[in-house]
Amino acid sequence: MDYWGLLVFLSQIIATFVGLTNSQPDLRYHFCTGDNDTTSMYEVNKNTLLHSLSSNMDIYGFYNSSLGQNFDRVNAYALCRGDVKLDICRSCVTNSTLKLMQLCPNYKGAIGWYDLCTLRYSNQSLFGIVEGGLSMTAYIYSGGVSDVIQFNSVLRTLLDSLRSQAASGGHLRKFATGNMKGPHFLTIYGLLQCTPDLSDLLCNDCLDGAAGEIPRCCNGTTELWILKPSCALRYDIKRFYDETPASAPPPLQLPSPPPPSASPGKGDSTSRTGIIIVIPITVSLILIISISIYLRKRKHMNSKYKIDESKFKMIFDHILH
Ligand SMILES: *[C@@H]1O[C@H](CO)[C@@H](O)[C@H](O)[C@H]1NC(C)=O
Ligand SMILES: *[C@@H]1O[C@H](CO)[C@@H](O)[C@H](O)[C@H]1NC(C)=O
Ligand SMILES: *[C@@H]1O[C@H](CO)[C@@H](O)[C@H](O)[C@H]1NC(C)=O
Ligand SMILES: *[C@@H]1O[C@H](CO)[C@@H](O)[C@H](O)[C@H]1NC(C)=O
Ligand SMILES: *[C@@H]1O[C@H](CO)[C@@H](O)[C@H](O)[C@H]1NC(C)=O
Repeated sequence: MDYWGLLVFLSQIIATFVGLTNSQPDLRYHFCTGDNDTTSMYEVNKNTLLHSLSSNMDIYGFYNSSLGQNFDRVNAYALCRGDVKLDICRSCVTNSTLKLMQLCPNYKGAIGWYDLCTLRYSNQSLFGIVEGGLSMTAYIYSGGVSDVIQFNSVLRTLLDSLRSQAASGGHLRKFATGNMKGPHFLTIYGLLQCTPDLSDLLCNDCLDGAAGEIPRCCNGTTELWILKPSCALRYDIKRFYDETPASAPPPLQLPSPPPPSASPGKGDSTSRTGIIIVIPITVSLILIISISIYLRKRKHMNSKYKIDESKFKMIFDHILH
């Protein structure tokens, strides 16, 4: 019997049930691109354009635009994760615009990846193209996967399916989420997205390229982000996204609460039986949670990579232009 797998499984159900899964690490990263030698006209266009992004985000969480002529022309887009509500999307774009302008003063371009949105600007045209060379991979290697071969096979199937769903999502949104049961009670949750200005084929290629990096960079990791300018791939063994009606599978099955007691007349004996059953269950649940949290902590401490101040192990691929 695989007790570790069972514990992870149980603690996931319990954590989902009592809403403990919100301890998501907050991933953010940026690159400044081009040179930092801009004209004042470029700066004016850049500020105007970037400040216009947030309010223009469409309900699918995307907006692209350009402003200015010739050498002073600025191109920009913002993309929110496909499961993010419009008000949060706008707030994310507003915040990251301000941050990115502070982090890359006077630069012609920049890209910022935040948990819920991506923002990019450049003096070069950005629309409908996939650019190699700007990429970030972050992962957490917790050592929690005991059957890597089978895990990889399920992961591959999941990512292939989500990739074709995302690529064929249409010109407004290219986004897909879903999950699959892996070995030893693990469930793998995936999220794939492209900017919607890409063709189906380019989206497919971008995501395929991202998935192709996994065996080399991140074999057997349980949490992974691969972020590129035009597409993003993320998976985890905890659910990290909101179900959306557009492209999402049915929600995770939660244990349904017991029906309210029908006849209050016989209350006494029923409720005593109730308490007698509930107490051992509660005690076992608390035990299981504590043990699994303890084991998890230990697994993290023994993990292959030391992750100190940052929770992540990161790989960058950055070409200035
Ligand atoms: C551009 O960056 C260099 C270092 O990379 C710095 O020395 C210089 O002051 C920056 N120029 C401007 C206008 O910010
Ligand atoms: C944006 O910043 C404000 C103020 O710091 C914060 O309250 C809000 O949660 C941020 N929005 C997002 C999406 O992070
Ligand atoms: C963008 O700026 C770079 C210098 O940073 C310049 O070499 C390039 O020609 C510019 N591209 C456009 C389309 O203006
Ligand atoms: C934004 O992207 C759309 C495709 O989604 C494209 O038709 C449009 O020209 C782009 N906007 C600008 C200002 O280039
Ligand atoms: C991934 O790890 C498993 C188990 O350690 C190993 O059998 C497999 O060959 C690895 N795959 C790659 C591509 O390194």
